Amino acid sequence: MWNWSGSDLKLRLTLRVAAVSMLCFAAISGYFLIEADRAVHARIDAVADVAARTLELQQSKIQWLNNARSEFPDLEGVAASVMAPGLCLAFRSTGGEISQRFCGGAQTDTAAPPQAFAALYRRLFDPGRETVRPVVSRGQAIGEAVVWVDPAVLTAEAWHDAGRLMAVLMMTLPLLCGLVYAALARALRPTRQIRDGLERIAAGDLAARLPPFDLAELSAIGDVFNQLAERLATALSDRNALTQKLILVQDEERAHLARELHDEFGQSLAAIRALAASARLTAAQDCPPLLAECDGIARTATDMMETLRGTLFRLRPPDVDELGLAASLEGLIAGWNGRSRGQPRFEIALSGSFEHIPSSVSANLYRIVQEALTNAAKHAGATRVMLRLQMREAASGGDSDIVLTIDDDGRPGDPEGDRQVKSGMGLLGMRERVAALGGRLSFKSGRPDGSSLRVTVPVAAGADAAPVERAA
Ligand SMILES: Nc1ncnc2c1ncn2[C@@H]1O[C@H](COP(=O)(O)OP(=O)(O)OP(=O)(O)O)[C@@H](O)[C@H]1O
Ligand SMILES: [Mg+2]
Repeated sequence: MWNWSGSDLKLRLTLRVAAVSMLCFAAISGYFLIEADRAVHARIDAVADVAARTLELQQSKIQWLNNARSEFPDLEGVAASVMAPGLCLAFRSTGGEISQRFCGGAQTDTAAPPQAFAALYRRLFDPGRETVRPVVSRGQAIGEAVVWVDPAVLTAEAWHDAGRLMAVLMMTLPLLCGLVYAALARALRPTRQIRDGLERIAAGDLAARLPPFDLAELSAIGDVFNQLAERLATALSDRNALTQKLILVQDEERAHLARELHDEFGQSLAAIRALAASARLTAAQDCPPLLAECDGIARTATDMMETLRGTLFRLRPPDVDELGLAASLEGLIAGWNGRSRGQPRFEIALSGSFEHIPSSVSANLYRIVQEALTNAAKHAGATRVMLRLQMREAASGGDSDIVLTIDDDGRPGDPEGDRQVKSGMGLLGMRERVAALGGRLSFKSGRPDGSSLRVTVPVAAGADAAPVERAA
């Protein structure tokens, strides 16, 4: 069976039209052959009637004149007037003998039909069948007039007629197919535009719209496409607004938590450390054995304050607005290098000016970098992490964009699992932040030479550091 999937619609429809046309031609040919057969047999019937009546008249004449010497049967006169190629005319006596027979000669110039056609024609029409009319004299049948046509002649004529139709078919079918193909190609030309529109939507260009088309069906598809694109754009902008709100709430929550930790927990730790110092003074005078415990409490409180400072830093990053994105990131990298004591090594390369980017962009980029660096240290066991931030200025007054890449040389985060990265909260948050900024994110993990995160965020032309929201 022919596999139609993926075949060209125009070719498919053209082949169907060709098949239907051939069926129609076959039906027309069949109709003509039936009509021709009917006409031939009507003629044979008429000839048989004339022959029978003529023979009866001859009998009557013999009896009336009582002339036994008159020749009977005498079909020569009838034969002379009705004879045609292949037509046979005979008188058969009641005993079954043919007493006289005339046959018209067959034309020899017609090509013999193919065997298959001849067999089919014989089967369908039985071309050699006889027409018999009784010859009655004095109320008694004395024989019968028999008329038939040579089946070879009839078959050859039928083949000749069918051949003419087939020749017409051979000439018109390619022409018809060509015309149908051209008409379909013209009518379906808008499908290319529809495909281009779908590809643009798939690539994220939600401004793609289709023009009205001539064909009603394609126009309906175009309308639905435009409505869907409209709805998708609205849904995405709603989602972005919601995501921005969620991120804002999350950042505010973090800031609140950091404040609480700093004000409550931090103060309490400071108080514990002061009390430990005062207890140490008392112990030094009154109870020296307690000195070690007092030092222990002070040390523990100091360690906890260190830990708290780290947590506060993660919860509430430096004010990116005030420091600027470049300085904040450099500080972040320096912090990681300080903490990791040389392993892994974090590096940063900035290119372009980041002074006038909106605070929402810088705050979110800072958070993205923060999470990506944590992931590289946590999952990859990398020895080198490279952060690149590049401002790509637009050519002429259009939107610029910021490209952030973070590459590490670590191993895949989930060596057991498949190549698909399982998204935790971190990657999810990054994606949401990027989506909220209308940018693109791609993350490749498990490459032989490490993982790579690439974020591209548009910065509207003339955008200034207007505070849309603040990340803690
Ligand atoms: N730099 C990286 N190198 C290798 N694998 C990584 C890297 N970053 C992320 N991954 C993989 O991607 C997965 C998802 O990361 P994601 O930050 O979303 O979640 P998480 O770090 O596991 O948890 P969370 O961030 O919520 O604490 C990780 O579990 C890890 O397998
Ligand atoms: Mg993470």
